[in-house]
Amino acid sequence: MSLPTPLSPETVPSGDLVFYSEFDDFTIWKSALQAQLPTLRILQANEITDPAGIHFSLAWKPPEGFFDKMSNLRLIVNLGAGVDSLVGRRDLPAGVPITRLTDPHMARMMAGYVLFATLRYARDIPHFEQAQRRSEWAYRHPRSPEDIRVAVLGLGELGAYAANELQRQGLTVLGWSRQPRQLAGIQCFAGIETLDTVLSQADILVVMLPLTPQTRGLLSGERLAKLPRGAALINVARGALIDQSAMTDLLKSGHLGAATLDVFDREPLPSHHPLWKMDNVLITPHLASVAIPSSAAAQIAENILRVSRHEPPNNQIDPSRGY
Ligand code: GLV
Repeated sequence: MSLPTPLSPETVPSGDLVFYSEFDDFTIWKSALQAQLPTLRILQANEITDPAGIHFSLAWKPPEGFFDKMSNLRLIVNLGAGVDSLVGRRDLPAGVPITRLTDPHMARMMAGYVLFATLRYARDIPHFEQAQRRSEWAYRHPRSPEDIRVAVLGLGELGAYAANELQRQGLTVLGWSRQPRQLAGIQCFAGIETLDTVLSQADILVVMLPLTPQTRGLLSGERLAKLPRGAALINVARGALIDQSAMTDLLKSGHLGAATLDVFDREPLPSHHPLWKMDNVLITPHLASVAIPSSAAAQIAENILRVSRHEPPNNQIDPSRGY
């Protein structure tokens, strides 16, 4: 991937940028941003000597109090798609815009994970994984993809991309969102009153909703019980969308046949949690999609410049809506 052309020196913003993430590499992000904005000073949180000199923040899950002394902050960039860890916290300076990344490469990476997890179930791979452990040639005739119904909850940028990719595989895809959306070739449902109908038709349920006060706990035990017996669940969004203990019970009872879980109500998932030991559960440590410096740096730089020119940034989230 080639890096975009650096911006001209006269567009240099004033003020420093602070970077924070426990999971992303500072050096790589710094050089990707520096290629765009060569004179911008980019610091890690522990390098700040003058918090008032920080005008821009690029952070993933910064600790509470992180923004406290940053009195001249002009832009908060969420180093990821879901902004639930930023919205509603007490240390956010009033009126400072928050933006999220909307990077097609990130959406593609997410769709890759969803495709992998869905096709693993659609092709009965867990059955063969288990048979192999018994050295058993356990033929199971493949099902036709259109006979497998996959419901995608959440049809934002990431959900819509994944739903389209699933549909390209010939699977029967149902989409559900809180607000009405239309996707070619996909039967889309909207509103809470249609959720049970969608769940009752899903052989595989893919959860891609943002976590907001309206969606927290949306998939209660009662709702999950609407899924046909033996359905598989894939959660790549946020753990708190689902009642995790009800889900664990349904996996134990077999009402839920299997789950692929990238996110949990508490992360890391505690080592004693029963989910770790369940044969029908595949666990990954919250990495279905990550922010990609080489493709996302340009939109971050663009927003820094927009804010420096007193223009509204792109991809601004609405804190009252929560995404
Ligand atoms: C990852 O979970 C993200 O929201 O980007």
